[in-house]
Amino acid sequence: MVILDGKKASQAIKNQLKQQVLSLGSDKKPHLAAILVGNDGASETYVASKVRSCEEVGFESTLVRLDNDVSESTLLQAIETLNADDSVDGILVQLPLPKHIREQRVIESIDAEKDVDGFHPVNAGKLVQGLPSFIPATPYGIMLMLAHFNIDTKGKHAVVIGRSNIVGRPMSILLSSNHPQGNCTVTICHSHTKNLEDICARADIIVAALGRPGFVTNNMVKDGAVVIDVGITRVEDSAAPKGYRIKGDVAYEEVAPKTSAITPVPGGVGLMTIAGLLKNTMQAHLNRTQITVDR
Ligand code: GUN
Repeated sequence: MVILDGKKASQAIKNQLKQQVLSLGSDKKPHLAAILVGNDGASETYVASKVRSCEEVGFESTLVRLDNDVSESTLLQAIETLNADDSVDGILVQLPLPKHIREQRVIESIDAEKDVDGFHPVNAGKLVQGLPSFIPATPYGIMLMLAHFNIDTKGKHAVVIGRSNIVGRPMSILLSSNHPQGNCTVTICHSHTKNLEDICARADIIVAALGRPGFVTNNMVKDGAVVIDVGITRVEDSAAPKGYRIKGDVAYEEVAPKTSAITPVPGGVGLMTIAGLLKNTMQAHLNRTQITVDR
């Protein structure tokens, strides 16, 4: 059984990006702007990690913090300012947002050319049609991880559990696409799926992205399957230093011995999400600074 180590795979990508930044010249650096609304502990951690990773690879980063009770129009103005700022290549608004803010309205206000999360309908539509686009960072990171560890996907039956716009749906599209880490036959499962356990038990590749700790148990996994765990739920644990532990959607201890490859939590997909985001930010920078010559 191979442990799909997100630390190793993401470090390899970060090293490539560092070299690429150096080759751009010192005055030209990709610049990511992140907006964090409120002070949800998990969101704080994720955004801090994104900003830190930018520094690590030599990108510029800007963190815009807004209060939890900020109005939707103030948030939209902040996005508009970043859309108009020529020095900013990529913009992300950390989700979830407070209930009084319409998430879709916010997503659609980001310039699609700077939408490094790939959540704008223009980028989602391009992904469906196989056109160049910003791919949502988590599914993108998973594809990068499959490539890093040379996981064979062609002709395999992949089961994706979860149909969110952030992970499940784009993941299903990527795995079914004509791509070196694609060409799977994909089943997408959700809360109304019947016989989910049987469907999973027939999968060569399982991507668990439903946000229910320990949901995938060993009876749902075929011998030799590849298991990708997207879950990162904080579960209370008074014995843990922080008072909680991070748990994945897969019951790792009982599932891992049956698999041919599995991602750990933490240390798996989470780190690849950041690698995907950094690659999108580099791509946004290159798209915006490319000099094109009329022919
Ligand atoms: N919340 C959970 N995942 C993500 C993500 O990939 N991007 C943003 N912006 N928010 C998230």
